[in-house]
Amino acid sequence: MSRIAYVNGRYVPHAAAHVHVEDRGFQFADAVYEVCGVRDGRLIDEEPHLARLDRSLRELKMKRPLGDAALRHVMRETVRRNRVREGLVYVQISRGQARRDHAFPPPDTRPSLVVTARTIPAARYDAWAAKGLAVITLPETRWARCDIKSTALLANVLAKQQAREARAFEAWFVDRDGFVTEGASTSAWIVDAEGVLRNRPLSHEILPGITRGEIVPLFRQLGIDYQERPFTVAEAKGAREAFLTAATIGVLPIVTIDGQKIGSGSPGPVASGLRKAYWSTRE
Ligand code: PDD
Repeated sequence: MSRIAYVNGRYVPHAAAHVHVEDRGFQFADAVYEVCGVRDGRLIDEEPHLARLDRSLRELKMKRPLGDAALRHVMRETVRRNRVREGLVYVQISRGQARRDHAFPPPDTRPSLVVTARTIPAARYDAWAAKGLAVITLPETRWARCDIKSTALLANVLAKQQAREARAFEAWFVDRDGFVTEGASTSAWIVDAEGVLRNRPLSHEILPGITRGEIVPLFRQLGIDYQERPFTVAEAKGAREAFLTAATIGVLPIVTIDGQKIGSGSPGPVASGLRKAYWSTRE
């Protein structure tokens, strides 16, 4: 089946979908994005993803190309036209097309909107969940506003490639004081040596992960002791469990960090329990 993309008001064949060479997203990464999971053809956690998109736009003084209802419609329509039952929908908004100049373009410049959707079988993630993932750690090299979901992802790209070359799924960034910030495309968690579930408090240093926010109410339900407190690489390596969260993948357990076994070396009960509970509350 041929894929379809939405580009600035039109549904076009994916293979022919393009933006202008002077689109500010292309030239300056002057753009924001969202990735929303799809299950049974439905968008997962749509509300908080759209709220974060608005926040990213606001923080960068960028205009919205479409109203709320129209944008939701385009997302659904792109999912439908691509017959995605399991997978993701990607939304990107740039500051638009204008003659290259670093400062903002004229105020009447129309922002660009691109929406794509792709099938990814959930079984792929279930297989990873059963086996557990490997993570490496790297020095933090990103800019000072990681809370904005911008397409300026070069440091994340380099980190992910390094992970891939090390046969790991993810790279965790580590700040100057030795504390983990987050993964190149996921939020980072541990169950420490005392059995306390920990993650880093929100700040400009990390993305406010939607999956992160959505699993918090499950902690009480599952009787999990939780503290929003940063953790060091050493604490992570000595932890009972480690895991990561992100849209589409949900909760995935980590079994090694820098090649060192975490806990028993197999997926832990907290990560597995949260994974199950997260998906069952989204059915
Ligand atoms: N990444 N941290 C970073 C740096 C991310 O890029 C992401 C998401 C997350 C998890 O956030 P959420 O739970 O809202 O997906 C944390 C998406 C999936 C991506 O870039 O493809």
